[in-house]
Amino acid sequence: MSAISVENVWKEYGDQVVLENLSLQIADRAFVALVGPSGCGKTTFLRMILGQERPTRGRILLDGQPLPPEPGPDRGVVYQRYSVFPHLTVGGNVMLGPELRGARLTGRRFGAARRRLADEARAMIAAVGLAGSEDKYPAQLSGGMQQRLALAQALMMRPRVLLLDEPFGALDPGIRADIHQLMKRLWNEVPMTAVMVTHDLREAFTLATRVIALERLRDRPEERERYGARITRDISIWPPRVAGQRTSFDPPEGAEPPL
Ligand SMILES: Nc1ncnc2c1ncn2[C@@H]1O[C@H](COP(=O)(O)OP(=O)(O)OP(=O)(O)O)[C@@H](O)[C@H]1O
Ligand SMILES: [Mg+2]
Repeated sequence: MSAISVENVWKEYGDQVVLENLSLQIADRAFVALVGPSGCGKTTFLRMILGQERPTRGRILLDGQPLPPEPGPDRGVVYQRYSVFPHLTVGGNVMLGPELRGARLTGRRFGAARRRLADEARAMIAAVGLAGSEDKYPAQLSGGMQQRLALAQALMMRPRVLLLDEPFGALDPGIRADIHQLMKRLWNEVPMTAVMVTHDLREAFTLATRVIALERLRDRPEERERYGARITRDISIWPPRVAGQRTSFDPPEGAEPPL
């Protein structure tokens, strides 16, 4: 089954057409990289999958069901910056989502349930390489550490779909390479479908199973009321990458802690 099904989706803001008639099937466990010029509607597209925006026309299905009208725990998101809460520690950030979800369902968690959650949070923090930083605040972390924290925070909710909006765009090249390895490993080990916006083609081809380009083919000011961005390239990575399986093209893994 296709995890995300985008059917004839248009998005307009006022009299401006942003996205024009997009149709796209994203397979379960795919890793899609979305590239395209600034302002072509990449973030708008992610926000529609997240449920923060509604298509003007058309529809988006998740596992065959219409998207709930609001963002939910089945969809996690990591932004370029500021995905984490500055007033909470690393541990507090990672626990917050499950705590709020638990509070909604059953009241506060006590005793064994809380300890289990704390153990899970510690394992997740270790999985993204932040063991030992549990009590630090985001401002005390480097940019790369903050993005790893944002990944841990999103993954704690076990999302079916992870949405990434230029998550590594602000990082130095060396740190980016490390976090790419981490991202690959997480995608291999955590059952999720990922859609990532990036400006960096190399990053797109390093991580994705499929690279999709959005572009406005007609962009004169008077055309913006009728034409939006469309899918102009749709490239499947060769050799195919399959979640949970490494190919000989992937760099060997170092000794990393299991998730
Ligand atoms: N809430 C909104 N109200 C009105 N117009 C909007 C809104 N959100 C986005 N837009 C417009 O939609 C277009 C696409 O914006 P979007 O942020 O999706 O682009 P993008 O591809 O993510 O760009 P970038 O690469 O710079 O992040 C822009 O022209 C923007 O001004
Ligand atoms: Mg954007």
